[in-house]
Amino acid sequence: MKLLLVFILIVSAALVPQLAFSGQAKTIDELVSPVDSTQCEGCHTDIHENWSKSWHSKSITDPRTIRSFRTFLLSGVDKLPGVKRTMLRDMCLMCHAPIAASNASDELAEQIAGLIVTAVDDKDASKKEAAIKELSKVNINCLTCHGNKTPGGLGAGPMEANTIYGPGDAKNPPHKDAIGFNTIQSAYMKKAEFCAPCHHGCPPGMSSKECPTQWSVYQEHYLAHGGKQTCQECHMKGEGGASHRFPGIYEKDFAQTAIDIQLSATPTRNFDHLNNTSSPAVVINVQLRNNAAHDLPHG
Ligand code: HEC
Ligand code: HEC
Ligand code: HEC
Ligand code: HEC
Ligand code: HEC
Repeated sequence: MKLLLVFILIVSAALVPQLAFSGQAKTIDELVSPVDSTQCEGCHTDIHENWSKSWHSKSITDPRTIRSFRTFLLSGVDKLPGVKRTMLRDMCLMCHAPIAASNASDELAEQIAGLIVTAVDDKDASKKEAAIKELSKVNINCLTCHGNKTPGGLGAGPMEANTIYGPGDAKNPPHKDAIGFNTIQSAYMKKAEFCAPCHHGCPPGMSSKECPTQWSVYQEHYLAHGGKQTCQECHMKGEGGASHRFPGIYEKDFAQTAIDIQLSATPTRNFDHLNNTSSPAVVINVQLRNNAAHDLPHG
């Protein structure tokens, strides 16, 4: 992750002048209205429950992330002459909060940055709590992933109104009648490519040596050696459908599926030539196998 961050800083610095940030939203509520997912919760209760336990549902407010954003602002942006706090929107939020990257006005982007510093550093606990509550509206939610053909990352397109993209298993979902949304089948949702805009973020043609992301490592160290599964097949495996819990390295039961360890011990004797004595000993044979599609350790 550290390497990825440094890399993102360099790449983003090169990209920023070319990207057009035409955000208009002036308040957080206005900003998030195109991705209002509260209307999904009532019918998709289990999925909502799993999502709310996933890191995606905390993509800004996860304590690790928000503290790093704070440090990026106070020790990076604020110390550089001529650099504005809108830099957080332009360098980090395209993946952590795609809606803010495309729709937040400069004024609102500065306000979001201010809320981040308040949420981490303010002495007043109630102010911290209020800031977290406000920011949590911008976390990755149902419509961040389902409301856009290319959700987030450097390849994000503009948000599409009243549209739900689905993998296409469900027959005639009641969306049109219930909430006025069209449902469009997207084969892309079942492909590993779906995760790449956010879990890669490098310009085309860079190898995993130059840009070690989940995507580049998956291509070169997994698929190229006969690996067959998609990101979804491992990370969204669920009973009777796709699980939205998205376990990763912090979920012990899942993480331990990454390695098979086989230990075997053979008794032998150790001869001490200097003293002409011998004592019992064992030869231990360790076989490690990485089943995941990632380098270990990774990140
Ligand atoms: C190309 C998309 C992308 C951009 C741009 C991006 N991130 Fe991330 N970030 C991710 C993804 C995906 C994860 C989760 C997977 C991982 O940990 O590698 C993540 C995880 C993190 C984490 C948790 C890492 C850990 O292991 O503790 C922090 C902190 C973070 N990002 C900070 C930042 C900051 C600060 C910026 C801007 C300078 C930024 N990110 C820009 C995609 C991105
Ligand atoms: C990080 C992106 C992401 C987020 C966030 C997300 N989804 Fe999904 N969702 C997917 C992907 C990818 C699939 C397709 C999985 C597959 O079939 O391989 C999917 C599949 C589905 C399906 C198809 C049925 C099934 O269970 O397979 C439903 C319904 C669904 N999502 C609803 C939701 C709802 C409701 C939310 C919010 C609570 C949500 N999703 C949040 C990526 C996401
Ligand atoms: C009135 C209840 C209702 C509401 C509200 C609702 N859904 Fe659904 N949705 C369903 C049903 C029923 C299905 C079909 C069975 C299933 O997959 O759960 C479905 C299917 C889906 C699918 C899979 C479609 C496919 O063909 O692949 C996705 C994705 C989805 N919903 C996302 C959402 C999102 C995002 C929202 C909020 C904007 C939402 N739904 C709101 C009831 C609802
Ligand atoms: C064969 C199953 C498998 C496939 C395929 C797979 N993963 Fe993983 N993934 C795992 C396991 C197991 C872990 C936890 C242990 C580890 O980090 O290797 C993990 C960890 C992660 C993490 C946690 C942080 C990190 O950097 O290790 C992220 C993020 C992730 N995977 C994303 C992806 C994406 C995106 C893809 C597709 C490009 C993908 N995974 C493909 C099994 C898989
Ligand atoms: C809109 C951008 C986006 C998309 C699309 C997306 N992710 Fe993520 N994902 C993130 C970010 C950002 C985080 C880190 C959240 C945080 O700050 O904790 C993350 C976290 C994760 C984690 C937990 C990482 C950890 O440290 O253990 C896993 C696993 C994961 N994503 C897998 C996937 C898979 C698989 C897909 C494709 C089906 C996918 N994601 C699609 C942005 C995205």
